[in-house]
Amino acid sequence: MKVAVFGTQSYDKQYLKEANENAGDAHELKFYKPNLTRDTLPLAEGYEAVCIFVNDVADREVIEGLAARGVKLVALRAAGFNNVDLDAARERGVGVVRVPAYSPYAVAEHTVALLLALNRKIYRAFNRVRDGNFLLDGLTGFDVRGKTVGIVGTGKIGLAVARIFNGFGARILAHDKYPSEEAKALGAEYVEVERLFEESDVVTLHCPLTPETYHLADAEAFERMKDGAVFLNTSRGALVESSAMVDALKSGKLGGVGLDVYEEEADLFFKDLSDRVIQDDLFARLLTFPNVVVTGHQGFLTVEALRNIAETTIGNITDYERTGKSGNEVQPQRESA
Ligand code: NAI
Repeated sequence: MKVAVFGTQSYDKQYLKEANENAGDAHELKFYKPNLTRDTLPLAEGYEAVCIFVNDVADREVIEGLAARGVKLVALRAAGFNNVDLDAARERGVGVVRVPAYSPYAVAEHTVALLLALNRKIYRAFNRVRDGNFLLDGLTGFDVRGKTVGIVGTGKIGLAVARIFNGFGARILAHDKYPSEEAKALGAEYVEVERLFEESDVVTLHCPLTPETYHLADAEAFERMKDGAVFLNTSRGALVESSAMVDALKSGKLGGVGLDVYEEEADLFFKDLSDRVIQDDLFARLLTFPNVVVTGHQGFLTVEALRNIAETTIGNITDYERTGKSGNEVQPQRESA
């Protein structure tokens, strides 16, 4: 197929080219730096498929624009598909495929990295030592062993997180509509989300963004949390009511926040804005706290995950080209992940 790849970063190009070569140059790939949006739709002209990532826009207008240009397939090089209007795609006969599973360890390990960086003040210590200041005040952390970690969503990533924290000797509380036997076997106790918020020293989100989970962590949820709890989100920004999180940080209710995603990240992440003034005041405020660590949606960024993503994406496009369907097709009635 002729495939227009949108929002291309250097690593996308490297791994997609490699996977396509390994598949005998199965497809003709054209790499575009801009994201897919209403404005960049003309770039899809003459292509049968578009390959997109989490901050590309595939709403109804874009899907209709793609269909009008002869595009038959939207291949997400991601697991989440909350940025695609599936009903519009079905109506216009545009297939949507995704990468449902790729190294969940990449995101799970990054989640734990955020906690450890926060808890042991690695970023502060690093700067201090480089400045020749070897004082330790303000760098006190806590043992994760014996603490209660609350995991919301125990699918592939949440389960990998549970395994790591089990290794640390933490008590694990979990909340999921479909409890995992594997998580239970690790000793995870499934509870209502309210109890999870109330009893956890560390709360970490690993559920998909759906209408049901939108702003799952709101003012009421932060109010329920233990004083000084650490809150982690490596799933999707809109799971969290950002203004309520900032309030909980300002009041000292939250002891620390580690984020790899942000509600309005589409205007910020995956771009070099270092010579500009950040216009998002809430995000700018978040960056001022000494107990907040933010990374720019890099949880998936390991060699293993990038290779998995590229291979599955190329395979999905090949399946669709040959049979008009793919095992990784997203169905409108299925929940967003
Ligand atoms: P998964 O589909 O394996 O697991 C999601 C789990 O959430 C399932 O067990 C599901 O039952 C549960 N769930 C659904 N609705 C829920 C609710 N209302 N409350 C509690 N649990 C609920 O997905 P996976 O692979 O573990 O990914 C989780 C999320 O991580 C994705 O949806 C995506 O948003 C995010 N992600 C972030 C990445 C990053 O780079 N930061 C990379 C990949 C995924």
